[in-house]
Amino acid sequence: MTDGNEQQPKPTGVTRRDFVKKGAVGLGAAAAATNINLISRAAYAQGGGTTLGLGIVGSGGRGTGAIFNHLTAAKELGIDVQLRAMGDVAEDRLSGALSNLKQNWGAQIDVPANRQFVGMDAYQGVCAADEVDIVIQTTPPGLRYLTLAEAVKNGKHSFVEKPVCIDSDTYKSVLASGGVANNKDLAIVTGTQYRRETSYADAITQLNEGIIGDVTAAYAYYCAGTLWHRGRGPADAPWSEMEYQMRNWLYFTWLSGDLIAEQSVHNLDAINWAMGGPPARCFGSGGRIARTAADYGNIYDHFSINYEYANGVQCSFMGRQYPGCDNRVENRFVGTEGTLDIQPNPGRTRWIARTHDGETIDINRGTDGNNQPYVEEHKALLESILNNDPIQEIQECADSSLTAVMGRESAYTGKFVTFQEMAGGDQRRRPAEPFVPGPVNQEDRYKVVPIPGTFAG
Ligand SMILES: NC(=O)c1ccc[n+]([C@@H]2O[C@H](COP(=O)([O-])OP(=O)(O)OC[C@H]3O[C@@H](n4cnc5c(N)ncnc54)[C@H](O)[C@@H]3O)[C@@H](O)[C@H]2O)c1
Repeated sequence: MTDGNEQQPKPTGVTRRDFVKKGAVGLGAAAAATNINLISRAAYAQGGGTTLGLGIVGSGGRGTGAIFNHLTAAKELGIDVQLRAMGDVAEDRLSGALSNLKQNWGAQIDVPANRQFVGMDAYQGVCAADEVDIVIQTTPPGLRYLTLAEAVKNGKHSFVEKPVCIDSDTYKSVLASGGVANNKDLAIVTGTQYRRETSYADAITQLNEGIIGDVTAAYAYYCAGTLWHRGRGPADAPWSEMEYQMRNWLYFTWLSGDLIAEQSVHNLDAINWAMGGPPARCFGSGGRIARTAADYGNIYDHFSINYEYANGVQCSFMGRQYPGCDNRVENRFVGTEGTLDIQPNPGRTRWIARTHDGETIDINRGTDGNNQPYVEEHKALLESILNNDPIQEIQECADSSLTAVMGRESAYTGKFVTFQEMAGGDQRRRPAEPFVPGPVNQEDRYKVVPIPGTFAG
């Protein structure tokens, strides 16, 4: 992540405060870690003896990273975890990840051929495996509703990457799965890692304690470059349209939620975190100008959304994916007594609070409370399972995902959109199930680039 327009802290006027006040993140980790030795691990492994069994659905880039993070967390906590099942729609993604993991983690990777599941129903095999206690879900976001429902149905704990929903229907589905998980004492931890970074949590704590007075406005930016495209498959045997879309999921709204949900959700989640919940309504615009070829499906490449919270505070959001431009990924809060700028950078988030005259009130250069947020997510998950106090954070992540989705819908339609109409509505953006290799049902519908004023939603 590059902070192209990084604001430099002012050298004068610093009143350095004590950062000993830790957010819940740090304290929770320390306290829970001391309890681990008191627990009989055998009581928690649901079929794999005394070692916790891990499974993954969607063994791509983040999925492989999440396994590294999970095994690192387990090692740091002194817990035995083995990866025992993998699933992906693509054999090459699964085998590539497996050999990488074996090289790095040796005997902790125990995934024999009968626990390697390839295909669009791979999630069912992983979630049903008796040897698995926890399922990491890093498939495209539009399929999160499927994998989460299957995991909780089979009594598995979950780590789910953000965003967790892409429309009203999947929002309701993941919340319903959260309810089932609650009844079964199953943990669900989400990949909104800013919340597990001590310097980011420090900023929100300071904000809530009034470092800039009462918040009157907020800004969120996720302006970044372009991402990958995976082509159409071998020239002599191109992928079917369904497989093509699943492998190139970023570019189809029904699978990614569009870039505002897939990528910018982090910075919208940070605003919701600070404001204590999602906005009431929004008004926005967007389009595609730098990335218009058919290869890029039907998503936009830029959004500009104005969010209004129930207390009257407005948040201005700008997000884009353009090649060759300056990047800007940050949050800004304006208060009655000053401003707070936060520049996220995993493990090194920095923030600075200034008076309206520009004097520094306080600063964290990203060195205080340095940590590994991607590992902390998995430590929290493991601790909550072993302490028999399962974390349930699907609501916050679903609300922030729907915040992104409502902004997208406002941009697509050109209309005001309320959180309530999205949360209670029946919008469903995906083709009819089951998803099988071959054509995509009503394919043209999923390739339409929305034109505001004419797009029905
Ligand atoms: N928290 C973060 O900082 C962060 C960073 C990157 C990605 N992510 C999230 O992680 C998720 C995965 O992103 P990624 O970058 O790893 O993408 P990726 O394309 O590298 O991985 C996704 C994998 O899912 C597989 N897949 C597609 N359809 C499937 C299906 N029906 N069944 C099984 N597998 C299927 C693909 O073949 C691929 O291997 C997304 O939700 C993304 O937003 C989060």
